Amino acid sequence: MSVCRLGYGAMQLAGPGVWGPPRDPEAAVAVLREAVASGVDHIDTSDFYGPHVTNQIIRKALHPYPKGLVIVTKLGARRPPDRSWQRATSAEDLTSGVHDNLRNLGLDALDIVNYRVMGSGHGPSEGSIGEQVSVLADLKRKGLIRHIGVSNVTAAQVAEARAITEVVCVQNNYNVAHRQDDPLIDDLAGLGIAYVPYFPLGGFTPLESSTLSAVAVRLGAKPMQVALAWLLRRSPNILLIPGTSSLAHLRENLAAGSLPIPPEGLAELDAIAASSPRPGH
Ligand SMILES: NC(=O)c1ccc[n+]([C@@H]2O[C@H](COP(=O)([O-])OP(=O)(O)OC[C@H]3O[C@@H](n4cnc5c(N)ncnc54)[C@H](OP(=O)(O)O)[C@@H]3O)[C@@H](O)[C@H]2O)c1
Repeated sequence: MSVCRLGYGAMQLAGPGVWGPPRDPEAAVAVLREAVASGVDHIDTSDFYGPHVTNQIIRKALHPYPKGLVIVTKLGARRPPDRSWQRATSAEDLTSGVHDNLRNLGLDALDIVNYRVMGSGHGPSEGSIGEQVSVLADLKRKGLIRHIGVSNVTAAQVAEARAITEVVCVQNNYNVAHRQDDPLIDDLAGLGIAYVPYFPLGGFTPLESSTLSAVAVRLGAKPMQVALAWLLRRSPNILLIPGTSSLAHLRENLAAGSLPIPPEGLAELDAIAASSPRPGH
């Protein structure tokens, strides 16, 4: 399987707090249709966005899906009515999650399912994920899943998953200012495994950096475009899934794919992480 490096993350299509319908459902449909019409061939989603809402919008906008479109979903959490994010990790949870995704997306098989580890607090924490990955491997043998990935994981968890089944992608929190995964990215590149940063633009806390802005001004670009272009330069195994509910931002983000950053700009951007406070500190 191969996809274009610039994909689309659908989490922003749910309502505020990733709950309920979007403020403008027609705009959500338009963003998805334009993304695909512009060449995006992989979309990241989850049935716990909304919950169910984002997958239903994807189905409404794009079904029957164009040949070659890869939809990547994730399991491991559920959203009770209090809108919190709770673990959903039993075999029954994971199996019913696959069927929910199939139904809401209108598919017979899911292209890629990431097992999303709900760690303690923000970011990954150690602990076995073998039981859950084995359940997904079983669902893959049954033909309900084509490929497996892992999300919010440590290097040890990636290794544990790879000992059970083929892992095609890893989805962790990473961007120009948040670079804890640098060694993992390099290891995965050597193994031919895609690394897909979530929060590539900072997520709920959008990136803000005078360096990013200064480099953007010099390039005649927007800071968020520079942040995406930097990720594309960081490693060839990085695939992007920036999230947006806005057509204007979608266009900017896709244009970042052809934004060259000269070596001196890259050096300045590389220094951002060193001066950023580490999350949790
Ligand atoms: N595996 C996981 O645990 C996990 C966790 C979080 C997210 N994800 C996935 O990763 C995808 C990306 O993460 P994300 O959407 O949370 O965060 P993100 O892509 O880092 O940033 C999204 C935010 O940036 C804004 N934005 C997007 N493009 C912009 C632009 N060109 N200029 C200015 N602002 C812009 C969006 O607002 P507008 O809507 O106004 O553009 C939104 O507030 C998600 O959509 C989801 O599919 C996975």
